[in-house]
Amino acid sequence: MTQPAIHSSLKESRTFAPPATFSANAHISTQSQYEQMWQQAKDDPAGFWGQMAQNLDWFRRFDTVMEGQMPNVKWFTGGKINVSYNCLDRHLKGARKNKAAIIWEGEPGDTRVLRYQDLHREVCKFANVLKKLGVQTGDRVTLYMPMIPELTIAMLACSRIGAVHSIIFGGFSADAVADRNNDAQAKVVVTADGGWRRGKEIPLKASVDESLNQSPSVEKVVVVKRTGGDVDMVPDRDYWWHDLMEGASTDCDPVQLDSEHPLFILYTSGSTGKPKGVLHTSAGYLLGTALTTKWVFDLKEDDTYWCTADIGWITGHSYICYGPLANGATVVMYEGAPNWPDEGRFWEIIEKYRVSIFYTAPTAIRAFIKWGNEWPEKHDLSSLRLLGSVGEPINPEAWMWYHRVIGQERCPIVDTWWQTETGGIMISPLPGVTSTKPGSCCRPLPGVVPDIVSRDGKSLGPNEGGLLVMRQPWPHMLRTLYGDHERFVKTYFSEVEGCYFAGDGARRDEDGYVWVMGRVDDVINVSGHRLSTMEVESSLVSHPSVAEAAVVGFPHEIKGEGICCFVTLKTGEGDESLKKELIQHVRHHIGALAQPDQVRFAASLPKTRSGKIMRRLLRDIAAGRESTQDTTTLEDLNVLARLRADEE
Ligand code: WTA
Repeated sequence: MTQPAIHSSLKESRTFAPPATFSANAHISTQSQYEQMWQQAKDDPAGFWGQMAQNLDWFRRFDTVMEGQMPNVKWFTGGKINVSYNCLDRHLKGARKNKAAIIWEGEPGDTRVLRYQDLHREVCKFANVLKKLGVQTGDRVTLYMPMIPELTIAMLACSRIGAVHSIIFGGFSADAVADRNNDAQAKVVVTADGGWRRGKEIPLKASVDESLNQSPSVEKVVVVKRTGGDVDMVPDRDYWWHDLMEGASTDCDPVQLDSEHPLFILYTSGSTGKPKGVLHTSAGYLLGTALTTKWVFDLKEDDTYWCTADIGWITGHSYICYGPLANGATVVMYEGAPNWPDEGRFWEIIEKYRVSIFYTAPTAIRAFIKWGNEWPEKHDLSSLRLLGSVGEPINPEAWMWYHRVIGQERCPIVDTWWQTETGGIMISPLPGVTSTKPGSCCRPLPGVVPDIVSRDGKSLGPNEGGLLVMRQPWPHMLRTLYGDHERFVKTYFSEVEGCYFAGDGARRDEDGYVWVMGRVDDVINVSGHRLSTMEVESSLVSHPSVAEAAVVGFPHEIKGEGICCFVTLKTGEGDESLKKELIQHVRHHIGALAQPDQVRFAASLPKTRSGKIMRRLLRDIAAGRESTQDTTTLEDLNVLARLRADEE
């Protein structure tokens, strides 16, 4: 019998049709146009994507659109392409050469504008610098940088010569950098002295120095001078960016790479302790990000587009760098915090640059709501025409606030569901077509064939909660987990026969709209960032006092989910100072983003007879809910009583 796997209680009936003027001018402007594209892509994926590939510039046209089946699909085989050529060189042939590619604003208020010509020149120079440092096609380069234009320059320079970048978000600690350097066997690290965040310097170079004690593959380090803070430069290993760039040639031919040449690795959390190196390749990823940018953000030549993500996450890769630049867009890039020097900073930036498309995360929206309407109300937001959301389910009340206060009831909202693994947006409204419902990411884009299934792989009916899967491959999907193809197959393709399994629970309503309910595995979503509970657990048990740890998420007003740690000690009872120490321990191990919100000491953890920690029960306790879980298999019922008593 087919059992709905997940119970869903959210009911939302409001709908918002796109304004007629928006639809009239949109790239995809009618329901029938969307449906026809979607059907064609489903029935004849090779024909559809082959046609779409004309949006890219090829050195050699591909022979075959798609080859093989999930999990092992190759796209555009026989084709030769270069991603940086598509993001830069092809725009230099016309008026875009003098168009702003990046409008950058630093947290202290300094600004820079790079036109497509400027960006091209810097990318060529840095590509030559990388070559001089011994980087060859296929080598891995770690980028651990603040949100400054040099980050985009370094990404495109890597892609120009076929080096594979691995970007590590600046909030990760030295240990996390070392792990990732080692897994990727990175040869060069590009970093900065530091970056600005809420008026303070984040000392990136110091973390790199610490990480290099544990990552021997790294031969050279390039350091951008951003803050002017003190750094130690190791002779013959560390070089200043500006010194290397000074003599570099501005000529650098883009390497003609195979369609399937690796473009980047991006580490993300899975259900085990070790981060996964999601690998994306060149042509398919570029095509996916370019098209989805155009469709979902309805990007036009004169738009000023701002995505507030950090490039260290997939959202920044796909929708600050590759997607928008492949379309020749003007991208606003901001270095710092939304509440520096005050809570109006984002709205000030929108007013200053006349931003027309704004893409942010629910966790930010919830913070804006808390800070109060007076901040956006101080600024002229009339340039906005489209709003986007990404990273976690957006609660309907936050959606309504975004619609009313920021969009002024004029701007469609695109709630975009996707993942590091999917490379680009998969399920999302099309702003000129879709009547949106607050809290739903709506319908799949053309080329995306999702289903919602029970644990035994059967398709579920309307409003039955189940597992979100993809039944058809798409060009921008991950190709493997770096160095661990077996884990790739097991993680994504073994749960449901013949399908890609996303790890999310969802339902589809009677109109076919998708409502994502969150992760069904041991991954939690903290401020829109994925964290494995096991990762935090292994950090905790590496502390000498800790015997055992179980980590669960709990509902958090701003972050979406907070981190709650249940800890048993080797000896003694925990106190406040040990709590603080453990919090710092995790922070040091993984990074500030993994800092626990709660640590609770327990004499033992609730387990089933077979020894599995009963996480659902712990989640209920962490959330302060009465448990709905059947406790008859609990090893020791007293444990539960004790954990609850600990709350008082
Ligand atoms: C969640 C971020 C609901 C989801 C692009 C997914 C969302 C995970 C949405 C991927 C959304 C992302 N609605 N949930 N619009 N967008 N998610 O890899 O659980 O950092 O599996 O990619 O975020 O997170 P990742």
